[in-house]
Amino acid sequence: MKNKNGWLALGTVIGAGALSFALVRRHLRVQAEGLAWQKQHRPALNVLACPDCHGALTIVFLAGGDGYHCSNCQKDYPVVGGIAHFIQPTELTGWNKRFAAMYDWFSWGYRAFSKIAFAYIGMSEEEARREITDRLEPKGGRLLEVSIGPGVNLPYLVRRPDVGEIFGLDISPGQLYRCREYVAHRGWDTQLQLGNAEQLPYQANSFNGVFHLGGINFFNDKKKAIEEMIRVAKPGTRILICDENEKGAQAYERFLPSFKRVAGKQRPAVVPPVDLLPPEMQEVRLFEVWNGWMYCIEFRKPGGKEVA
Ligand SMILES: C[S@@+](CC[C@H](N)C(=O)[O-])C[C@H]1O[C@@H](n2cnc3c(N)ncnc32)[C@H](O)[C@@H]1O
Ligand SMILES: [Zn+2]
Repeated sequence: MKNKNGWLALGTVIGAGALSFALVRRHLRVQAEGLAWQKQHRPALNVLACPDCHGALTIVFLAGGDGYHCSNCQKDYPVVGGIAHFIQPTELTGWNKRFAAMYDWFSWGYRAFSKIAFAYIGMSEEEARREITDRLEPKGGRLLEVSIGPGVNLPYLVRRPDVGEIFGLDISPGQLYRCREYVAHRGWDTQLQLGNAEQLPYQANSFNGVFHLGGINFFNDKKKAIEEMIRVAKPGTRILICDENEKGAQAYERFLPSFKRVAGKQRPAVVPPVDLLPPEMQEVRLFEVWNGWMYCIEFRKPGGKEVA
């Protein structure tokens, strides 16, 4: 090579080639794992329900592939890449629309951001996530995470002997596609649904554990979301609802410009929505977790001893 520029050009070509090769290999691996995951995917007709009218669903063949049909209100819900779509992102409004869009593009960096955030608050990710997930009492039954994101709580749930089937719902297709990639890579049999926490696509009394971690502060209708988590939980189930407190929201505003932009200048102060719980809920507790950066509302749906 005659000059420095020649070596530089050669180095750039080799580097770009190696990067492209690695990216193509990764893409092929993700595709193959995704397909394998979809193949083992089975319809969950015993758990799913129409989010609009709670009617029973049947499997149908829609234009683009499989889907669910509500025999009550006649709505169709497509299954895309193994994920049932119970909302159309274009129909979302208000906070839900803004945060779904933010999490869509932020999904690529969400895991890395979480790790940095845990280092900042002085806890390991495992310690922090177990502080919440260890409080669930599924007793071998079915578990639901509302707003599952890219599946960051799953490692602390899938291997627990007292956890049965796991369902995860999120409003952001981007987050759910990351989650699918993650569970497919690990061979986990998690059921994923695209939906809105305010209109859950599940039958009443279906889950032995229900939790939500991060998100409710900026739902359009927090009360509706809480009522939905209660509706789908079996009687006697412990439910956990956690999100950042005002101190945590201010930290997000400092470090995440997009959060500040999406939440807006007139963001209302964060108040844990404990007053929105129906009065009949039992063992209600409000406490701080994650070294004082998050609140957690824990309660039990009444009834239950008779329901397995
Ligand atoms: C801070 S992330 C939390 C992800 C995960 N649960 C965790 O522990 O890291 C908030 C999640 O809430 C989801 N979300 C926001 N609004 C929602 C809504 N109305 N219904 C369901 N999920 C929603 C977002 O898409 C995002 O994945
Ligand atoms: Zn319906």
